[in-house]
Amino acid sequence: MTSRKILVTSALPYANGHIHIGHLVEYIQTDIWVRFQKLRGHRCIYVCADDTHGTAIMIRARKEGRSEEEVIADMREAHIRDFAAFDVEFDNYGSTNSEENRQYCHRMWSEIRKAGLVKEKDVEQLYDPVAGTFLADRFVRGTCPKCKSPDQPGDNCSKCGTTYTPAELIDPKSEHSGATPEIRVAKHLFIELEKIHSFLNEWTQSGEHLQPEVANYLKGHFLGDDLRDWDISRPAPYFGFEIPDSPGNYWYVWFDAPIGYIASTTQWCNNNGENVDDWWNADSDAEIHHFIGKDITYFHTLFWPGMLKTAGCKLPEKVHIHGFLTVAGEKMSKSKGTFVMASTYAKHLPSGVLRYYYASKLGSGLDDIDLNLEEFVAKINSDLVGKVVNLASRSAKFVSGATLSEAYPDDGGLFAAAAAKGEELAALYEACNYNAAMREIMALADKANKYVEDTEPWVLRKDPTKADELRDACTVALNLFRQIVVYLAPVLPELAKQTEALLNKPISSWDESQSPLTGTSVSEFHHLMKRIDDKQVQQMIEESKEDNAADAGETAAVEFHAADTWKDAGDALGNEPLAEECTIDDFVKVDLRVARIIEANHVEGANKLLQLTLSLGGGETRNVFAGIKAAYDPETLVGRLVICVANLKPRQMKFGLSQGMVCASGGGGKEVFLLSPDDGAVPGQRVH
Ligand code: MSP
Ligand code: ZN
Repeated sequence: MTSRKILVTSALPYANGHIHIGHLVEYIQTDIWVRFQKLRGHRCIYVCADDTHGTAIMIRARKEGRSEEEVIADMREAHIRDFAAFDVEFDNYGSTNSEENRQYCHRMWSEIRKAGLVKEKDVEQLYDPVAGTFLADRFVRGTCPKCKSPDQPGDNCSKCGTTYTPAELIDPKSEHSGATPEIRVAKHLFIELEKIHSFLNEWTQSGEHLQPEVANYLKGHFLGDDLRDWDISRPAPYFGFEIPDSPGNYWYVWFDAPIGYIASTTQWCNNNGENVDDWWNADSDAEIHHFIGKDITYFHTLFWPGMLKTAGCKLPEKVHIHGFLTVAGEKMSKSKGTFVMASTYAKHLPSGVLRYYYASKLGSGLDDIDLNLEEFVAKINSDLVGKVVNLASRSAKFVSGATLSEAYPDDGGLFAAAAAKGEELAALYEACNYNAAMREIMALADKANKYVEDTEPWVLRKDPTKADELRDACTVALNLFRQIVVYLAPVLPELAKQTEALLNKPISSWDESQSPLTGTSVSEFHHLMKRIDDKQVQQMIEESKEDNAADAGETAAVEFHAADTWKDAGDALGNEPLAEECTIDDFVKVDLRVARIIEANHVEGANKLLQLTLSLGGGETRNVFAGIKAAYDPETLVGRLVICVANLKPRQMKFGLSQGMVCASGGGGKEVFLLSPDDGAVPGQRVH
């Protein structure tokens, strides 16, 4: 087998949000593929980076009163930590806001200019005069010009489906500040994709660069018509790289983001005495493989190959596109607690089992993959604990401290038959048919378990005259176990490590599956994997609900503080429009009372909540959990007066019964402001 030189990437996650279990589908899928290639003896490197530029980061930084660089640095640390917790192992993790990236952007840009693909056009764009920024379509909302539905996004109406430009909206409002946007004309730079149409036809439709359904989709939806010019610049203010020959204009984030793949490779090369051109120049002997989700198909299958081709770079061997994660058949939902952050998952469950579960669901197509929580628990317990690990736990302890038999015993051809499956399994991994590979491997585990049940080492052990038989039976069981672990090593690197330690032999090559171990010593047996419990899953979901309750406002709307001292620009109202009209009768149903906080405590295991004991006077108290931990220190709260909803239906929470609610304004997180009455008010007084 000749060794290939392979460069693998996953999409660069945005630096303005945390990694969640949806993202992990992609990074786990890619990491499995990379580990597989390495195990097969190929030269393979896996690079990624944070995608840092654009308006969203700029607005977030302003909102938090920090520089973009600070926001990016924190998120980078969090991303790296989250990936490591799931054994996603990059050879280099870069940033699109790096010097390497800036330089490569310049290089590509000058080639694209030279090829005559750039033209200038005036663009009418909405500008937020309060936030001082141009507005992307999704940051404008207003009334649909056609059906008059209020609060519609800037590009198309969610009620009647009409598409329009944000300038056509009736009464448009900026999502950042609530201000009415102005129309400003600015010069933008465009890449004329139509000029490379025939190249794109050819590249997308020939060879095996794309999954067949993707090639067909592009043909049917884009390539049949003229390709539209691609707007790749944004006027200041914009967080990104300024275009060298167009001062005051910045490359649109989607121009410099994929170049980040090359910049990250450059960093790796610099650290490893290599030259990036040997990987990315058109004549390089490397295979480039991109892994992405279906939502960013267009960028990676049309723009990106077009840029690479024009700049004389290596084209991808393949763009592997996967579907989206759903939970219980639905989109991940914050209120249902199924929008689970990677860090929340990792607190409650081991990472390996998610890797296995995703592998067992992922095929080579673009179908969405569904995380069914009951199936998840059942599958892990029956496949990994019940079938795989069980092989070792029922045999290793009888030979630990001793050695395996000197000659491999007769096992009825089991080891040889499973070894013969090696190439078939490898082909399944290569094609990203992980679900089929997992099924085949579990079928091998079934056969191995049958062997153990038939030979009954635990019975042999009781008969001192059968010591040799016992050793032979355990030698077979442990070899069948290890062979399965080799096949699973790309998915379960942790289990592979434990097995190396148990049987004192590294698993550094796929070929380790081809010949049995004999005569080697067996270490003391340690538990390899525990069953997982429904309760762990439930706790993860509960905590995700709680995370969501506490930062609802933070993600629902972006608050923007203008420089004015009063902060009365209408941001708050703009971000959260007034509720439907109510009558005085509706209002009096809510019994608001003055209350004194007589006790305030942290809650064990809760990230966002404080426990408060409220006194309504006369010995009447209420226990309340409030999502104000990020904003208030419990010590500073004791004694102060607040307003509470005193007749709210009590709610059973994970931490106890919550009997009401304290009133506060603000979007959540640190932006929470408790209400208090003026001096003179006493606990128990009703608020009218
Ligand atoms: N920054 C861009 C990619 C630039 S690549 C030059 C981006 N970032 S992202 O953070 O939104 O998504 C990163 C990857 O995760 C994308 O490939 C995206 O498809 C994938 N996923 C994000 N949510 C997902 C699910 N719920 N399910 C599966 N994959 C998902 O896009
Ligand atoms: Zn409409």
